[in-house]
Amino acid sequence: MLGLIDSEKAHSLGISALTNFGQTSVGSKILDSIYHAPELPTKVFGMDFQHPLGLAAGFDKKAQALSAWPSLGFSWIEYGGVTRFPQDGNPKPRMFRANKENALVNRMGFNNPGSIAVRDSLLERKSKGQWPNNPIAANIGRSKKVSNEDAPDDYASTLDVLWDFSDLFVLNVSSPNTPGLRELQGEEHLSKVLEACSNIRDRKKNFKPMLLKFSPDMEDEILFNSVETAMNSGINGFVATNTTLSRYVPKNSQSRSVFAQTGGLSGRPLKARSLEVVSMLYDYTDSKVPLVGVGGIDSVDSAWDMINSGASLIQLYSALVFQGPSVVSHIIKGLKKKIYENNFSSIDEAVGYYHK
Ligand SMILES: Cc1cc2nc3c(=O)[nH]c(=O)nc-3n(C[C@H](O)[C@H](O)[C@H](O)COP(=O)(O)O)c2cc1C
Repeated sequence: MLGLIDSEKAHSLGISALTNFGQTSVGSKILDSIYHAPELPTKVFGMDFQHPLGLAAGFDKKAQALSAWPSLGFSWIEYGGVTRFPQDGNPKPRMFRANKENALVNRMGFNNPGSIAVRDSLLERKSKGQWPNNPIAANIGRSKKVSNEDAPDDYASTLDVLWDFSDLFVLNVSSPNTPGLRELQGEEHLSKVLEACSNIRDRKKNFKPMLLKFSPDMEDEILFNSVETAMNSGINGFVATNTTLSRYVPKNSQSRSVFAQTGGLSGRPLKARSLEVVSMLYDYTDSKVPLVGVGGIDSVDSAWDMINSGASLIQLYSALVFQGPSVVSHIIKGLKKKIYENNFSSIDEAVGYYHK
């Protein structure tokens, strides 16, 4: 039972340590000497990435440890989910580890200080010269107290507030932990949300890519409709996938009790479906739209499969919980080896290779 209750506490302690130690110059040098990942460069959305692997949304909700993540080997960071209004999220406990399955169940519910507070802390970071050189993404969710009818303004406001504090934006309409949120993936709501966000972007002087993050639980037809709508409404890429509501029954009793919790499942059990969704998106978009693959990446082979299935960039969350930060450099070293063994000249040649 302790293991169940302590997951979020352990997570908060890790973030605090990173915030306090990992962002000092001595701390980041020490971390970098332990966790340094080699280069495996790629250019996506016109941006240079040292390698394809980034930190998935939800780990650094407040963008608190932004400049520490590169010292752990990540080439890019997605902070958030941030909502327009501050919110506490669901009552604790709300994050559970199923150790034998290498899986997490969470029902955090977008706990975050709200867009203005996040913007203020990022402004302070910038003015202190503590902005990382790596590409930064912001994950934007819908405030709980806002209805789906009013969601367009809610997303657009957060986008507006955070505009100068991210290189790309991920519109999250796929978290299972905000009631009704995933209905925003449907054509009618989606087009309104995206129109409002595009209007904000049109008013800015600098273009920045907007991505849409999908749930793994969508029926194929609804997924493809959403893709059509999104591509007609200014979306530049897709992130697949968020956590799943689907479950199997694990053999192990601790895992069974975790799987019985309400919330989204992430980690190893998500891998097969995330790969499948990325593969379908790659086919459906004729490989013309960059894809970010996330869900169950926890090894060299799973990262390689995701890239070969069509992902130009990849992310992980759960594997960091189960394996610690060394998983990042381990994966990148392994990908470099795969590139060499396959006689590819760069990682770009591996993107979508299974389809060729
Ligand atoms: C505790 C927790 C919180 C999360 N919060 C968010 C979030 O705020 N926004 C979002 O788009 N995804 C969120 N996610 C989903 C992850 O970004 C990722 O899509 C999912 O965990 C699958 O990747 P993984 O198997 O590597 O964990 C969260 C996941 C976890 C475990």
